[in-house]
Amino acid sequence: MSADERPLRSIEPARKIIVAIDGPSGAGKSTVARELAQHFGLLNLETGAMYRAFALKALRAALALDESSGLEELAAQTSIRLEPGDDGNRVLLDGEDVTGMIRNQMVTDAASRVSVFPAIRTWMVALQQQLGAEGGVVMEGRDIGTVVFPHAEVKIFLDAAPEVRGIRRFDQLGPKPAAQAEAVIRDLRARDERDRSRAESPLKAAADAVLLDSTHLTLEETVQAAEAIVSAKLEQLRAFSEYI
Ligand code: DC
Repeated sequence: MSADERPLRSIEPARKIIVAIDGPSGAGKSTVARELAQHFGLLNLETGAMYRAFALKALRAALALDESSGLEELAAQTSIRLEPGDDGNRVLLDGEDVTGMIRNQMVTDAASRVSVFPAIRTWMVALQQQLGAEGGVVMEGRDIGTVVFPHAEVKIFLDAAPEVRGIRRFDQLGPKPAAQAEAVIRDLRARDERDRSRAESPLKAAADAVLLDSTHLTLEETVQAAEAIVSAKLEQLRAFSEYI
């Protein structure tokens, strides 16, 4: 059948897909999400950046990061916006572009701490649901397939052995003495442990997620595998011609 002969409903689809990518840090989520978004023409939304922006505000306010009430009060006076762009998301904290300020170790650690509190998560999840409400997004985080979009059309849980993730993170940090690699792996394990063991929506694979283990894959191979997962799902959905 030529393109002209295809039924109209496959040209004017009713819905746009949501791709949920969850997994621990260092598994390659950000790269995979960015590449998938580009490849399939979707918006890339990185939810970790939202927790990071809030953590930055909490640090600036010198709040105790283990007390929910102060953080809740702060959240009530905070606006966080995520703007998709070609080379990643811009994060606006109360209108201030903090994109370049949220990747250091202090904010990384603080983000993992503030994200354990149910009230903070409820607030963030609502924001994320608004952002993805119209579909056509790749959303990356820890609880996207389980909590934010449990009905996402595609769910990928991207994982890798902790040592491998630690070394990748270490390499991303630029030139550093090799002896510091151990400390990076230790920090990553501690953060993993907190993300996986928190009572409220802990990091875990959704029952219907496709597991992708990147331990023995290059980043390129991981991206290819993820693209294959999304393509296969799109094929299935197109068979019912409801999606683009
Ligand atoms: O993905 P990231 O490393 O930028 O995330 C920073 C922290 O934010 C991470 O340690 C846990 C938290 N987070 C979360 O709890 N839920 C999400 N959907 C995304 C991030």
